[in-house]
Amino acid sequence: MSLMRRWVFTPGTRGIRGLRLEAAPVPEPGQGEVRVRIRAACLNYRDQMILDAPQLRAKPHLVPLSDAAGEIDAVGAGVPTWRVGDRVVSVFFGGYYTDPPPDRLTMGLGAASEDGVMAEFVVLAATRVLPAPPSLTFVEASTLPCAGVTAWNALQGANPVGEGDKVLVLGSGGVSLFGLAFSRLRGAQALATTGNRIKRSGLASLGANEIVNYKDTPHWGQKIGELTGGVDRVLNTVGAEAMTESLAALRPGGEIAVIGAMPSTSPLDVNRLLAKAAVIRGIAVGSQAAFREMSSAIERHGLKPKVALVLGFDELREAFLAQASGELFGKVVLSL
Ligand SMILES: NC(=O)c1ccc[n+]([C@@H]2O[C@H](COP(=O)([O-])OP(=O)(O)OC[C@H]3O[C@@H](n4cnc5c(N)ncnc54)[C@H](OP(=O)(O)O)[C@@H]3O)[C@@H](O)[C@H]2O)c1
Repeated sequence: MSLMRRWVFTPGTRGIRGLRLEAAPVPEPGQGEVRVRIRAACLNYRDQMILDAPQLRAKPHLVPLSDAAGEIDAVGAGVPTWRVGDRVVSVFFGGYYTDPPPDRLTMGLGAASEDGVMAEFVVLAATRVLPAPPSLTFVEASTLPCAGVTAWNALQGANPVGEGDKVLVLGSGGVSLFGLAFSRLRGAQALATTGNRIKRSGLASLGANEIVNYKDTPHWGQKIGELTGGVDRVLNTVGAEAMTESLAALRPGGEIAVIGAMPSTSPLDVNRLLAKAAVIRGIAVGSQAAFREMSSAIERHGLKPKVALVLGFDELREAFLAQASGELFGKVVLSL
């Protein structure tokens, strides 16, 4: 039996002292599986969270990290799609092929009870790898599965940004740097915040037009709003804590892609929002176009509004009281 090296979390531990390098048998792929010889694995913020939170690890000796690139090393039975030597990257979630995501999204590779990729060899479902872009090295390709896909989805998913749009990315983390690059790719203008003076020039060299230090400027969103007249998209990699300033930066009709779930005192359950890929949309009544569409739908379908109470012109006080009573089922109308 040949052995390989892999990293595991020691059960119940927090931080890097809980990481252990051990020898383990090289795993054999079963039906529908492939074995990948890992050539590069990449860290994300979420791996730090899992490191520091044993409750996110349901398996006693979980293998960490979700993102890797490597080559197919052995192919299990019933896998026509892959050949030995194919260059692949890991896929973060199982079963999430197109939008919307499945009802029960896992936490991805390297969390809960799904072993990650920080091993010399890993066995994955054949559907849990995708071709690595041929122009990228293994090191480069390993950065894509989480940070790359997240930024792409936020910018090019249901509501793609385009030429001339303004995109704000928060901080200079992995997702944000992909966000900058993908925005520029689409001809959009990119703006960024950072709390780190030294990273300013890096952000500028990647094409950020404006950079605001969120530590020196607590109202960074308002500042971005003033500088730009409002951005079309915010990639909020912080989460609930950054919503107010993200809104301040946004133009009317703009979109905030909520990506981060950093610690926050907000009652908004951001984790549930992310897992459902839910869309929260602000509504300010609606336009004349909306009225026209509604009106013709009412006509087409013979819909009748529900009226609970009709009162006379001089019964305005009664109308208010009836409305405030909470007893009515339908609208209160004053008929003249
Ligand atoms: N929803 C999803 O599917 C998904 C996927 C990937 C990542 N995420 C989340 O997205 C976030 C970023 O992940 P990552 O892997 O890109 O992180 P990362 O590479 O570790 O980068 C973190 C960066 O965030 C910035 N930052 C930290 N606190 C901030 C704050 N209060 N305001 C603004 N920026 C702040 C810092 O930038 P500066 O040093 O420039 O200040 C820091 O370098 C995390 O919350 C992660 O959990 C979510």
